Amino acid sequence: MKKINVVAIDGPSASGKGALSRSIAHRFGFDILDSGLLYRLYAFLSHLKFDIDEINKKISKDISFISDEDSVHVIYEGKEITNHLRSENIAKIASEHSAKKEVRRSLFEIQRNFYNEKGLVADGRDMGTVVFKDAKIKIFLTASKEIRAKRRYLELQNRGQEVNMPALIADIEKRDLKDSSRELSPLLPAEDAHIIDSSEMSLEEVFSLTENLIKKEFI
Ligand code: DC
Repeated sequence: MKKINVVAIDGPSASGKGALSRSIAHRFGFDILDSGLLYRLYAFLSHLKFDIDEINKKISKDISFISDEDSVHVIYEGKEITNHLRSENIAKIASEHSAKKEVRRSLFEIQRNFYNEKGLVADGRDMGTVVFKDAKIKIFLTASKEIRAKRRYLELQNRGQEVNMPALIADIEKRDLKDSSRELSPLLPAEDAHIIDSSEMSLEEVFSLTENLIKKEFI
């Protein structure tokens, strides 16, 4: 298989995929695909009663994704809806839709279209196993559920959202179980993925490991 210039980063919720992706994109000048955001957008638009084809068109044509060092921002009809999309409520609905074959199929091409030869970092659950099987580098990033819940707690608090820690842990556990046990594209490391457990590591340490891999493979 011909390998393409993609760093695929998969892993469970709040494992640090987003922060790692942004650091890599910033360091190497790569584009970013936050595939979870597409599933969250799907949940948002389907709640507005658009059907699957309308959602596909809207995501491809009417929505802008702007990345900076802190976040990927989503603009819909001139308004930033990122904070809304990042809520735990939307995450739950996104996880439900993401188990459906027609939804995954509809988002597949959109995700492939994010490819840019100069480099793409793609984060999600099935980047290395399905969408970018041909990625040059595959990372599976994980961490204990307590650490992930703590990170998500701080992230939501920073966004000014109300959070209850026990409810957050329960939500994360439920979502992980759903994402890993579904029939289609379950959350699993690709055979050729580098598995990184970041429970005891800082973002800088994870970044430095990944940076070395990219320098070896891309340059
Ligand atoms: O990464 P996230 O928390 O923003 O993702 C939200 C939901 O979308 C997640 O619970 C499962 C789904 N998802 C998926 O099924 N496949 C992906 N590649 C990315 C996300």
